Amino acid sequence: MEIADKFKEVETEEETLDPTDWSQLKDLGCRMVVDMMNYLESVRERPVWQPIPNTVKEFFTKPIPTDPEGVDKTYQDFLEKILPYPTGNIHPRFWGWVIGTGTPLGMLAEMLAAGMNPNVGGLDHVANHVEAQVINWFKEIMGFPSTASGLLVSGGSMANLVGLTVARNTMARYEVRKDGLQAATQKMTIYSSEETHLSNQKAIEILGLGSDAFRKIPVNEEFQINIERLKACISEDREYDYHPVCIIGNAGSVNTGAFDDLDTLANICDQENMWFHVDGAFGALAILSPKLRSLVSGINKADSLAFDLHKWMYMPYEVGCTLVRREEDHKKSFSESADYVAHHSRGIAGGEIWYVDYGVQMSRGFRALKVWMGIKEQGIRKYGRLIQQNVEQAQYLEKLIQVSAELEILAPVSLNIVCFRFVVDRLDNSSLNNINKEILIRLHENGIAAPSYTMIDNKYSLRVAITNHRSRREDFDVLVKAVLEIGRELQKSYFPS
Ligand SMILES: Cc1ncc(COP(=O)(O)O)c(C=O)c1O
Repeated sequence: MEIADKFKEVETEEETLDPTDWSQLKDLGCRMVVDMMNYLESVRERPVWQPIPNTVKEFFTKPIPTDPEGVDKTYQDFLEKILPYPTGNIHPRFWGWVIGTGTPLGMLAEMLAAGMNPNVGGLDHVANHVEAQVINWFKEIMGFPSTASGLLVSGGSMANLVGLTVARNTMARYEVRKDGLQAATQKMTIYSSEETHLSNQKAIEILGLGSDAFRKIPVNEEFQINIERLKACISEDREYDYHPVCIIGNAGSVNTGAFDDLDTLANICDQENMWFHVDGAFGALAILSPKLRSLVSGINKADSLAFDLHKWMYMPYEVGCTLVRREEDHKKSFSESADYVAHHSRGIAGGEIWYVDYGVQMSRGFRALKVWMGIKEQGIRKYGRLIQQNVEQAQYLEKLIQVSAELEILAPVSLNIVCFRFVVDRLDNSSLNNINKEILIRLHENGIAAPSYTMIDNKYSLRVAITNHRSRREDFDVLVKAVLEIGRELQKSYFPS
């Protein structure tokens, strides 16, 4: 008896996750694409958002299936239990937080990327070159030298973490990767305005610097960092033997879309020998519009820059980017060596681009493809026009608010964010806060529109952040009409007749 024959007796049939009937899955795949295209095409006809019924929530508490339910049933569950309950951000009247819209081609690109399923951490394959090309395009757009490096990441939070890691490691004056923060003889400090996004604080905490090391500098009336207070804080810290390492400039702050004076911040960093990181999550993309470009003046002087492509480039989630001026700083912060990832000169382990050396992740998806295809499809100028369009829509909304005595603008409209509230003459601030919060919730629950909210000078503000290529002016008319109607209805309970 042959050796192989002996094992045959105990062998079970080999399995795979591929379909037994490819033609059936191909048909279903075509149907899925058509269903999703119809879903996108008809988005305007649906409510922006609807609450998830309890029965649907319960559906997601069922135990793990041990036996197959089949692809048709699984897709049917998706259609019934998942598809109707999104965040709403693909809708033309979604303007909450800073959430982008996505595109039909972006959806298809995600499918193509998943079909190829490369691991873009390294090795010799074409996805690395696609990512490198995307990064090179953005280096040029942002005015970075061609020798700079970059990495596509999950979003702005990760982009800030990558940039600030390089900042800490480069400025520490000792081998912080090897010796850790225990070896620091002085406490490192980082400076930014009090309007800076929380992801920077998170990064500072993750980096072990401690949130107390984050100096939150007050802002001026335009919500920009107060330069004099910043300088005073740095010099006071030096007196007390702290080690100021980095200033974070805002290119489009999360609350109001304010731009810090990046040129001045870059000069201070130069004089003080500090790292200049810019959080341009959405605002950095204003550079694409010739009319808005001056706002980001100085962004090209950053040592590291974080921005998102899933916000104001309308790409599907997730994709952000970090650029670092000097590649050696970047690589020094993240590269590790091990026998099992040694680079060869030929074969799959060859290739000169290994993104594992530039960030936290080793295994990485092909997020570059949707960006590459989206830019090729439309041309970069179109994105600049759409960004400009969103800014003009913000100005249009500002005018609608200004002509209404019952509405009040709460912060200067410097870009694409409008903060406002419904006001009633004889009501105190606390009552107005309650009314505006209820207006917001009703706008959401009735599926009319989805602004978000923030507090400006203790006033609850409806906050419209427009990073939506589907919005039209008429959508803002709908918003204002609904805010006035709901507000007038709510005020009645304060003045019973
Ligand atoms: C200014 C700013 N920075 C960072 C972030 C975090 O980006 P992400 O949500 O992509 O992680 C945001 C998100 O809104 C932001 O507005």
